[in-house]
Amino acid sequence: MSERLRLSRRSFLSASGASLAATALPKLVTAQESERRLVAAPGMASLVGDDHLKTAVWSYDGSVPGPLLRYRQGDRLKIRFDNRLPQETTVHWHGIRLPNAMDGVPHVTQAPVAPGESFLYEFDLPDAGSFWYHPHARSNEQVARGLSGTLIVEEDSPPPVDRELIWVLDDWRLDKSAALIEDFGNVMDLTHAGRIGNSVTLNGRTPEFLPVKAGERIRLRLINVANARIFGLVFEDHRPLVIALDGQPVTPYEAEEGRIVLGPAMRADILLDLTNTPGSRHRVIDDFYRGAAYKLLDIAYEDPADDGLAGSNVDALAANPLAEPDLKRAESHTIELGGGMMGSMAGGMMGGRMMAMRALVESGKAWALNGQVADGHEMPVLLTLAQGHSYRVTLVNETRFHHPMHLHGHAFRVLSRNGMTVSGRPWRDTVLVDPQERVEIAFVADNPGRWMFHCHILEHQEGGMMGLLEVA
Ligand code: C2O
Ligand code: CU
Repeated sequence: MSERLRLSRRSFLSASGASLAATALPKLVTAQESERRLVAAPGMASLVGDDHLKTAVWSYDGSVPGPLLRYRQGDRLKIRFDNRLPQETTVHWHGIRLPNAMDGVPHVTQAPVAPGESFLYEFDLPDAGSFWYHPHARSNEQVARGLSGTLIVEEDSPPPVDRELIWVLDDWRLDKSAALIEDFGNVMDLTHAGRIGNSVTLNGRTPEFLPVKAGERIRLRLINVANARIFGLVFEDHRPLVIALDGQPVTPYEAEEGRIVLGPAMRADILLDLTNTPGSRHRVIDDFYRGAAYKLLDIAYEDPADDGLAGSNVDALAANPLAEPDLKRAESHTIELGGGMMGSMAGGMMGGRMMAMRALVESGKAWALNGQVADGHEMPVLLTLAQGHSYRVTLVNETRFHHPMHLHGHAFRVLSRNGMTVSGRPWRDTVLVDPQERVEIAFVADNPGRWMFHCHILEHQEGGMMGLLEVA
């Protein structure tokens, strides 16, 4: 297929030919440090290569993506967060099942952290897996400016691999001088597919190739931190094996048509066996959007590895301690996803008032859950759930757009799509709901508190597509 595929550029600015080896993630943090600091502040980043100007960003600890936080399962995370941004912010620990007060949702779980102030985040890490952190205040602007980072919780017995790599995938809207275009929340992005940019980065850079050794097995942790871009990664001439989704182990399987689809906030852990010949090059392509495929980078084979692990047995990762929903006794609910252009939503309830679509758009809103439009973090309680009970929730997408729907504080099983059982009923914290699709999820409401449920296309979230599930 792909020789004939017309590829557009990954960045509209040409990149400099760097290899990914030069772009390892910064600073390793281990749990042995009892308390660490994390500072959000304006800074500069070289996103599109050293022959272009640097980009003014907001970042954690001065790096894009932020520092890699790495712990062992069962460790306690203790982070003193300092806000040196010109705006109030919070840190949300995406996918972590933590106490509600540590969830980082402004006005719901904590007061926003004002400029110059700090906040102590401290909680246990019950699940192993690939997670991430990002602000939850004006996320559409703050994440687009560069605030996000990886949080890895290691298994007790990780699978044997030759190397582990993390690919943080991000998407930027840059101008000709590599400066961020600051049109956050414009009506076009708000009412359509969100802020899709023009330059894709991998670990904050634009590497041309990943050097590998023939015969290696690599564990690749893929994390989509983009505001709105959905990735559909194809590893040409390779057969990636999925071992975890959103940090939660799955029975290892080969991705359908070899394509790994990641909506915003979603993660996949894959094993990549490098079984091609030394000297060969193979493309990794993102062809999610029709007619807009591009090459992310090449996998460049160097000399063979001594005793590489490619082709050896694969065992499933040990499951995390998640409560199994009782599907027979579960109470069923429906949440309708509505709004956006070309949809059928005529209006929605905001702040107790019915508003027509046109009036909503004029106040920067365009999306609703069950007809309710969130106004900032003033959110409707969509469902009140009894602690310890099982729930099945059908998400009905009545819009023309994709929505990666995320639930805080819990993981859920994805049961079915349009009535068809999803094989393995994987656990996730974010599920990509296609246009006009119905997706049924199930979980045990075992974590007390008020938990956000929202679209992770950040313009949709800001545009009203968020609400609360209250567990009491
Ligand atoms: Cu990744 Cu409500 O967040
Ligand atoms: Cu959405």
